[in-house]
Amino acid sequence: MKTSVCIIGGGPSGLLLSQLLHLKGINTVILERQSREYVLGRIRAGVLEHGFAELMREAQCGERMDREGEIHEGFFIAHDGTQTRVDLHKYSGGSSVVVYGQTELTRDLYEARDRMKGVVIHNAEDVQLHDLKSGSPWVTYRNGDDIVRIDCDFVIGADGFHGVSRKSIPRDVLQEHEKAYPFGWLGVLSRTKPVSPELIYARHERGFALCSLRSQTLSRYYIQVPLSDSVEDWTDDRFWAELKRRLPADVAARLITGPSIEKSIAPLRSFVAEPMRYGNLFLAGDAAHIVPPTGARGLNSAASDIYYLYHALMAHYQSGDDSGLDGYSAKALARVWKAQRFSWWMTTMLHTFPDSTSYEQRLQQTELDYLFSSDKAMGSLAENYVGLPF
Ligand code: APR
Ligand code: PHB
Repeated sequence: MKTSVCIIGGGPSGLLLSQLLHLKGINTVILERQSREYVLGRIRAGVLEHGFAELMREAQCGERMDREGEIHEGFFIAHDGTQTRVDLHKYSGGSSVVVYGQTELTRDLYEARDRMKGVVIHNAEDVQLHDLKSGSPWVTYRNGDDIVRIDCDFVIGADGFHGVSRKSIPRDVLQEHEKAYPFGWLGVLSRTKPVSPELIYARHERGFALCSLRSQTLSRYYIQVPLSDSVEDWTDDRFWAELKRRLPADVAARLITGPSIEKSIAPLRSFVAEPMRYGNLFLAGDAAHIVPPTGARGLNSAASDIYYLYHALMAHYQSGDDSGLDGYSAKALARVWKAQRFSWWMTTMLHTFPDSTSYEQRLQQTELDYLFSSDKAMGSLAENYVGLPF
């Protein structure tokens, strides 16, 4: 089998790039380790930057997002028993975000691939990358007893944090930067009316909490928990009671609870791998970087990788211009690190740290006090939350 661009990973990054390139006549093959059902069974975040939403529309995948997604022009920060609204529209110069579940977005991308008869190979086992520095890379995967070879011009590693692509870069070439946080997020999905029309990020001495949503009938809530906790430690009743303790009394009073239809704990991590290119292998999305979800940058960090690769590959095939490919790693990392900074800042400001000193706790409070007292500080938060320019 031969193709122009072989994409490893059928998550949002791989699917979106494949769709964008296909619309420009550039052939791709996606190799996905799991089944489509498994991929679509993952519960992920739900806030899309303006730039990501635009990319979905350019990929002819934005119709349901525009119909069912919600435009949000602000969110709340709860603190000291009250809450303060962050007016994104005012402080970002008129921008906003779209609240639309990543699961639905991934479903839309798969349906678009089907419509265009895109090649997405599921249950592709033991994917291996070969001759990445040769100019003629090739990829193999196992299909039952058969080993299938795909010759290509470029390999895109969109296979997430646990994928094979990043690990195909020699250790003396790859640099990894990581920061682990001493807590996780316990998340619950419930078929209940959201407690608030806009998201609420709550800072509380008992720990961080987040009130989010997927629609007006599907709510998503999180609370910070110790890394030693497991889902079994948290009945629905215990979860709802703890969430209420961390919210302002008027919000807690109107919280509608219900059975969890999904409940899981995820550790928080900051991670960046450099460079994001090795020969004709280009890393994109979670394969190259991970952020703590506090700043809602996960999928949105992948968006700029996809945008840069889309334009760079288009320039290569349409005019033989390789400047985009040659500049990809530096350009992608410049924006990735800004998303890393913002995610670290939101996480540090809003969570309780088990070993923090009184000085650090006062600094956290001062971070919030300064934010609410300064239009420029609010502007900085807003421009990062709606998405820095690509
Ligand atoms: N071979 C083939 N596919 C693989 C392999 C492999 N060796 N390893 C992983 N995959 C697949 C996974 O099954 C997954 O479907 O690659 C896909 C990677 O998708 P994601 O992990 O969702 O990463 P990405 O597409 O970059 O999307 C980033 O997902 O994890 C969230 O918070 C993150 O919102 C962000 C988004
Ligand atoms: C979510 O809805 O899952 C969500 C929203 C905002 C975040 C993180 C997660 O910052």
